Amino acid sequence: MCPGSFDPVTNGHLDIIGRCAELYDEVVVAVFVNESKTSLFTVDERREMLAEATEQWANVQVDAFQGLVVDYCQARQIPVIVKGLRAVSDFDYELQMAQMNRGLAGVDTLFMPTNPEYSFLASSLVREISKWGGDVSSLVPPLVCKRLGDRHHGGAV
Ligand code: PNS
Repeated sequence: MCPGSFDPVTNGHLDIIGRCAELYDEVVVAVFVNESKTSLFTVDERREMLAEATEQWANVQVDAFQGLVVDYCQARQIPVIVKGLRAVSDFDYELQMAQMNRGLAGVDTLFMPTNPEYSFLASSLVREISKWGGDVSSLVPPLVCKRLGDRHHGGAV
């Protein structure tokens, strides 16, 4: 499973999801509520955008959940979490979560290095650039670009 906030899904997320879809028979991408972050899109909106952006992979399912990632994995007998790593700076936090999740429920996490093309990419930057009228069309899929434009500027990005 690939858990995340996906607020909104970016081309960096899709790179990881697509590579997981080639490696695994089934992939679940789940939108989690991260209460330490303020969100631009509702969980339902994020889920809708993910579903549309991952349509090309028949073995990818999209879901949403509030609670612990490991509870979700245990309820659905999902044995592994895959997380993308953009840079060493992601590693501390991700290692801590991976060790906690393994300790809590025996669920392992595998790290996949992101394509270097996306190593600078973050949903928070996409939200900020779009808010101030910058062009995010190379960073997110077209449907997300449109939603960002609608949300911030009533149409134009
Ligand atoms: O895209 P993000 O914001 O980096 O994703 C973080 C996410 C949603 C994967 C993380 O906040 C998370 O796992 N939230 C669910 C609650 C949980 O399981 N917390 C315990 C982690 S040890």
